[in-house]
Amino acid sequence: MTLQAIRYSRGCLEILDQLLLPDETKYFSLHDTKDGWSAIKKMQVRGAPAIAIVGCLSLAVELTNSDVESVSSLKELIENKLDYLVSARPTASNMAEAASRIKAVIRQLAKGDDYKAEDAKLMIIKELEGMLEEDININKNLGKYGAEHLLGTYAKPPVNIITHCNTGSLATAGYGTALGVIRYLQENEKLGHVYCTETRPYNQGARLTAYELLHENIDASLICDSAAAACMKEKNIHAVIVGADRVTANGDAANKIGTCQIAIAAKYYNIPFYVACPRSTFDPSTQSGEDIIIEQRPHAEMTSIKGIKIAADINCWNPAFDVTPAELITGGIITEYGVFKPHEVKQRLQDKA
Ligand code: MRU
Repeated sequence: MTLQAIRYSRGCLEILDQLLLPDETKYFSLHDTKDGWSAIKKMQVRGAPAIAIVGCLSLAVELTNSDVESVSSLKELIENKLDYLVSARPTASNMAEAASRIKAVIRQLAKGDDYKAEDAKLMIIKELEGMLEEDININKNLGKYGAEHLLGTYAKPPVNIITHCNTGSLATAGYGTALGVIRYLQENEKLGHVYCTETRPYNQGARLTAYELLHENIDASLICDSAAAACMKEKNIHAVIVGADRVTANGDAANKIGTCQIAIAAKYYNIPFYVACPRSTFDPSTQSGEDIIIEQRPHAEMTSIKGIKIAADINCWNPAFDVTPAELITGGIITEYGVFKPHEVKQRLQDKA
C-alpha cells in the first residue's frame, strides 16, 4: 500500500492528520479554504509541496460547492482565498507560487466576455486539481536526476545518506523530493543505509520519515540531530540530501531548522550536500536568504511533547527554518529539470515557469 497524505476526488478532500502519526492513521475531511488554512497552520499537513496542494485543493472543493454570479466576482473570490491560504505559513514558497499562477489564469479568463462564470470556475478547478498528479511526476523525475548525479559524480553503490526533516510522500503528493532520491536509489538497488535525524522540535524525522522508511523497507537508522557530525565521521556517509521550503535567486535555501548546521558539518567532512526541490520552491523574486521571512513557532512545540512537559519554564527561541547559504550546497540543487549548482539555478529555472 502506498502512503498517501492527500486523498481527493472532485468536491471531496481528505488529509492524513500528521499530528497523530505514527501512532494513529486517521484521515479527516476539509470542506473549504478555512479548513485548508487551519490544517496548514496547525501542521496537520506540512512540507512545502503538500501545503500548496492541500491549500489549492481546499479551494477547489470550496469552488465546487459554491455558486458564482460572474467571472469578475469569481476572480475576486479566488484572489482573496489564495491570499488567505498563502498567509497560513510564510516561509515555504510553493503556496505563493501556486497562488500567483492561478491568479494569472483567472485574470486572463476575466478579460473580455468569452467565458460564462460556471465554465471559468470549472477551468480553475481543473487547474487546481492538476497539481496532485503533476507533483508525483515532478518528484519521480527529480528522484532519478538526483540519484544519477550522485552516482555519476560522487559515490559508488551502496550509497549511505543522511537526510533531515520529512520530504517524502507525507510532504508531497507522493514519492517525495529528497526522499524521492532515496526511494529511486532503493528501487535500483543502489542504496546502502539511510540516517534520518529526529528533527526537533516537531520530530518530523522521528515520527514521519522513520515511519516512511519503515513502510518502504529501507535500511535506516534514526539519529539525534546532534549526532549528524559524528555520523558523518563514523558511518561512511556519501551524501546529505535535504528538501527546501524556499530557494532564492542566489541559490540560498531555507529548510527545516538544523539544516544549516548539517551543511556546515558536511563541508568539514567533504561530503556533498544536496537540496532537492521542485521548481515551485524556487523564488526568483527574493534575492538571498537574508530576505526570507522565517516562521516562528509556539514555544509549547519545544517544551512539551503530546502534552507532556519536557523542559523547564524557560523562554524559547523556536524558528521553524534556517537558511543554508549557497556556498554550502556543494552537491547541487536537484530539480525536475536536472541538478544545478546554486549559482546556476536562476538562469536554469527562470524560463521554466
Ligand atoms: O515545518 P515543516 O514540516 O513544513 O517543514 C518541512 C521542511 O522543512 C521540508 O524539508 C520542506 O518543506 C521540503 S518537503 C518536500
